[in-house]
Amino acid sequence: MKRINIGILGLGTVGAGSAKVLQDNQAEIQRRLGCEVVVTAASVRDLNADRDCDCSSIDMLTDPFAVIERDDVDIVVELIGGDSLAKELVMQAMSNGKHVVTANKALVAMHGDELFAHAQAHQVAFCFEAAVAGGISIIKALREGLAGNQIELIAGIINGTGNFILTEMRDKGRDFDDVLKEAQTLGYAEADPTFDVEGIDAAHKLTILAALGFGIPMAFDKLIIEGISDLELKDVDFAGELGYRIKHLGIAKATDAGLELRVHPTLIPSKRLIANVDGVMNAVLVKGNAVGNTLHYGAGAGALPTASAVVADICDVVRAMSLDVSQRVPYTGFQASQVVERAIKLPEQIECAFYLRFEVADVPGVMSKLSAEFAQREISIEAIKQTEPEPGQESVSVIFITQITTEASVNEVLSTLGALPEVSAPVVKLRVEHFH
Ligand code: HSE
Repeated sequence: MKRINIGILGLGTVGAGSAKVLQDNQAEIQRRLGCEVVVTAASVRDLNADRDCDCSSIDMLTDPFAVIERDDVDIVVELIGGDSLAKELVMQAMSNGKHVVTANKALVAMHGDELFAHAQAHQVAFCFEAAVAGGISIIKALREGLAGNQIELIAGIINGTGNFILTEMRDKGRDFDDVLKEAQTLGYAEADPTFDVEGIDAAHKLTILAALGFGIPMAFDKLIIEGISDLELKDVDFAGELGYRIKHLGIAKATDAGLELRVHPTLIPSKRLIANVDGVMNAVLVKGNAVGNTLHYGAGAGALPTASAVVADICDVVRAMSLDVSQRVPYTGFQASQVVERAIKLPEQIECAFYLRFEVADVPGVMSKLSAEFAQREISIEAIKQTEPEPGQESVSVIFITQITTEASVNEVLSTLGALPEVSAPVVKLRVEHFH
């Protein structure tokens, strides 16, 4: 039986998981591909570390360049992360004629266009299913399953660590730092966990999804990015009382005025399916003009779910190896010559509903001052909530949920109202999406 050899760069959580899945599911993979797939070499930082896979038949090396130079490696699996050394290794592996599979979202989001061109030039496959939403086959769904559609909206919970933190805070009132530590222990968090909590990881993933959905170049530097680290438990609770849940979403929306590409905490009506995606689970809502809404759900992080996507890519590469390059699915699903820029909205041009929390003095006339300013800017109000004053406190929280308006109009309202003497703290502004 024909044998395909894999060289893995990095045998950490996902690397060891991928080797384990290839070993445990060897027979089933052979039944699918008609050939044997074997990890023949791997590069590691520490040769003596404990690993959750059988390393006895793998050549363990400390130099990753030694793996990509080996004649007996057919497919290089890059799992070391980051976008400098990883880029050098992947470019060199492609130059050496190796097909490449990666789980590295930063690499694809920052250098994808260059890597696709390099892969094309060397006629090798370059696959990155594991880079977005762990075990969910969202890359394949966008690139192949939904290929008949014009994509109108992609909205996803695409950072498992962030969703795990938000869920534990909401359900158990747990402390942010405590939950983050647990996410690190469980292997969900990035090497630098600020990427998870400040929205960078989700922004890398949204950049990739937008490129695949809309046939545009990677546009990471045009995204609006907000994380969850400033989110207060009281807003999670107020949102719940108003019938919403707060989720950290990546949103890519096509509008007549351009694409909206944004990553931020978002209020979603609690009855929507995506609002009920909890823990480390991810979900991506994709709306196509033919299919309507589709929801793709599964584990977004962790060794085996991510390995599931890595191994699926290896299977795709093995199948593609026997095809002429022109018959393979293009890297983004669009022909390279058809990947074109589209207008991307600036932050103030974003249109959506807003949740606004004011901390105000508990004195007569404040509510009418607030309401008057909204009326003057022609912003309609969907819901208002005012809290009882806490014992010993002189201020109360007043929450407005607006109807759809522009971010520019809301910012104008906030610059006026934020300066009122009765407003005692910076106004909390969160975006709301209804996904009708
Ligand atoms: N840190 C990432 C997450 C890992 O929590 O989603 C999967 O990409």
